[in-house]
Amino acid sequence: MIQNDAFLRALRRQPTDYTPIWLMRQAGRYLPEYNKTRATAGSFMKLAMTPELATEVTLQPLARFPLDAAILFSDILTVPDAMGLGLSFAAGEGPKFARKTDNEQAISALAVPDMNRLRYVFDAVTTIKKALNGHVPLIGFSGSPFTLACYMIEGGSSEGFPNVRKLAYARPDLMKQLIHINAQAVAAYLNEQIAAGVDAVMIFDTWGGLLSSVAYQNLSLDTMKEVLARLNANAAGEKVPTILFTKGGGQWLDGMANSGADALGLDWTVDIAQARQRFGGKVALQGNLDPLVLLTDEKTVAREADTIIHAAGVQPGHVFNLGHGIVPQTPPENVAVLVETVHRVSREMRLE
Ligand code: CP3
Repeated sequence: MIQNDAFLRALRRQPTDYTPIWLMRQAGRYLPEYNKTRATAGSFMKLAMTPELATEVTLQPLARFPLDAAILFSDILTVPDAMGLGLSFAAGEGPKFARKTDNEQAISALAVPDMNRLRYVFDAVTTIKKALNGHVPLIGFSGSPFTLACYMIEGGSSEGFPNVRKLAYARPDLMKQLIHINAQAVAAYLNEQIAAGVDAVMIFDTWGGLLSSVAYQNLSLDTMKEVLARLNANAAGEKVPTILFTKGGGQWLDGMANSGADALGLDWTVDIAQARQRFGGKVALQGNLDPLVLLTDEKTVAREADTIIHAAGVQPGHVFNLGHGIVPQTPPENVAVLVETVHRVSREMRLE
């Protein structure tokens, strides 16, 4: 049993006493205690691959702030790493793969990885669930098949992923081949996380917004639907709530709302009042504060949070979050103000 189930209730569009909140990348470099654990571990991958350390950093933000959910500490790129691409993270730099998957030969050689190679992730889920002891739900996650393909093709982070876009338009057949393997891998990966006990799952489609509308539908949304359709029930036989987040996907919310996901993540460019009006009867919405608001001052943070809470309204089905990940320069005190404001204002609104 989960003691604080406000997050799960909101995903199911059931009433809650207040709006639950968690933050994308809530365990990360803006927390001095994270940097300390990471320095001791020596590398990001060492943190992610050691269940006790992954548990420690997962719990760090919850010890500071009364957040309503925990998110598994790992990364979306563990899946291509398990495919043999050789992932590393140099401090202060983005992810890097030893091998790129940017041609017919490399794509043809790919296969869905043996899930035992990702056992460290599922072990982390088990360890985190035990440590949470039912306090709040645990979110599992994966990258979208398309977003994983972006990093696999470029071999790491990129400004605008030009080689991905060229391949998507010039060789949609190859792109589909790659994304189809990723979809099978992602579904298997999420199903193992569900079997290990996660309470909700989120698909991060960070780069779907780079595509044309037609390519988004064919290369990103359709494969996310395929993944959602393949997800298993949990050990209790219940459907695990799902969240779909396409950054820059505001114009495609209609298609996303019909994907089978229970909730949609919104970046900060989306008008949440309008989105609630159009899709609030069908899906829950998660978002949508600009993460850079957290780089301002406490008064501005409180005002911007208040604006979103009022725009989202009291109708069940809103989870407060940022429109993208928290940035490393964020002062933790501003996060404290954000969480307090969201809880207080949304509680007051329900009593009005
Ligand atoms: O949200 C959480 O607290 C859970 C952990 C989590 C991480 N990455 C830890 C991480 C989650 C959910 C992710 C998802 C992820 N990873 C995404 C999708 C969400 C998004 O932000 O768009 C993407 C695109 C990645 C790939 C990735 N991982 C990049 C591009 C980078 C480097 C850029 C950066 O922010 O540093 C990472 C590294 C990474 N993943 C860090 C953390 C805490 C920082 C690495 C470090 O400590 O050195």
